[in-house]
Amino acid sequence: MPRQASSQGLTWFQDARFGMFIHWGLYSIIGKQEWVMHTDRIPVPEYEKLVSQFNPVKFDADAWVRTAADAGQKYIIVTSRHHDGFSMYDTALSDYKVTNTPFRRDPLAELAEACTRHGVKLGFYVSLLDWHHPAYRFRAESGLAWEDYIAFLHGQVRELCTQYGEVAAIWFDGDWPHSALGEENAYFAAGGSFEYDKLYDLIHELQPDAVIENNRHAEPLPGEDLQGFEQDLPGENTTGFNETTVYGLPIQVCMTINDHWGWSREDRNTKSARRLVHVLAKSAAVGGNLLLNVGPTPEGEIPALHQERLREVGRWLARAGESIYYTRAGVIPAAREYVSTLRHDRHFIHVLDYVSDCVILTGAPQHLQRARLAASNTELEIEREGANFFVSDANDRTTIYIPPELRDPLDTVIELF
Ligand code: GLC
Repeated sequence: MPRQASSQGLTWFQDARFGMFIHWGLYSIIGKQEWVMHTDRIPVPEYEKLVSQFNPVKFDADAWVRTAADAGQKYIIVTSRHHDGFSMYDTALSDYKVTNTPFRRDPLAELAEACTRHGVKLGFYVSLLDWHHPAYRFRAESGLAWEDYIAFLHGQVRELCTQYGEVAAIWFDGDWPHSALGEENAYFAAGGSFEYDKLYDLIHELQPDAVIENNRHAEPLPGEDLQGFEQDLPGENTTGFNETTVYGLPIQVCMTINDHWGWSREDRNTKSARRLVHVLAKSAAVGGNLLLNVGPTPEGEIPALHQERLREVGRWLARAGESIYYTRAGVIPAAREYVSTLRHDRHFIHVLDYVSDCVILTGAPQHLQRARLAASNTELEIEREGANFFVSDANDRTTIYIPPELRDPLDTVIELF
């Protein structure tokens, strides 16, 4: 049995509640998201030509990390190598890497330094699937064996866990046991086992606090520390590939800020700050982190609109962060217009929608008799009914009046006490 992340690492991770996901690679040059090599059927030699074009002159690791910090994000998970097989760091195990582009620099090393300066933690996205590696896709032609790919994959994970200081998380992607492969994508198929036991053990040995997530859309395996949800909240499956069973591990929801992970020139469907705050609150309410993605441009910048939305979320967190950070799943049952979070013994209600002049809760613990606005401490009028010997907690009603001028346009947070 592989070991798990330390309880210290897991606690830190859960307390953090909000992180930044970054998808950035050669594909960003094309501006049609990170799957473009597959979707546009670009042959390897053609795609490789992007190497000579990668020169993100505006890349500033400090600016990226400051954007995350301003948004209230406590960690960053950045693509080290996506399905296209191109390494975004100075790996010794491949020449197909960022330091062999005109850019020459190692962005992950620069991010690691910037993260240390700003007190933001760093983790890495690692693709299990590789559309470029000769031992993944071209074993017949290259004479290589599956073991050669495993040595490469495990070797890269070792590099990431030893060359960039403290690692908060490793996020695997590209093994989807429930997805059927057809003629179109037969080359996605792994040539054998990923040897997860060994891989996970390696991480937990080198970085005992690092949490491991594998985006398999399936029940987490031993050694995995989180259950992940992609583009959906736990229990939802609007995407068609999410597991709806919640297995009791810490949760991480990853979501795009628009509709794509990698830079997508045409995608203008950027979510509103209100929607982003709601996803953050709803994730926290079920005991989950939100890993919110940005797709930097080929010039190396986080799109201005993404930055703007993130800062707006950050300003809300400055008002209401005590209801998100260090919280666990709420015990007051959620309803359509509100969810709850719990910070030690403090109960927070996130009012997401106003269907009337007040919010009416059921199931609030009996000892909570007063209410205040989290942002200003203003005490609110509250009425508790049915809370007597004959009526169970679940049948009671707690009515809280929120004067319109005190409502937060993104999410009004109330503490019950
Ligand atoms: C999907 C996509 C991948 C993306 C990931 C992020 O698995 O295949 O491109 O990186 O989601 O959640």
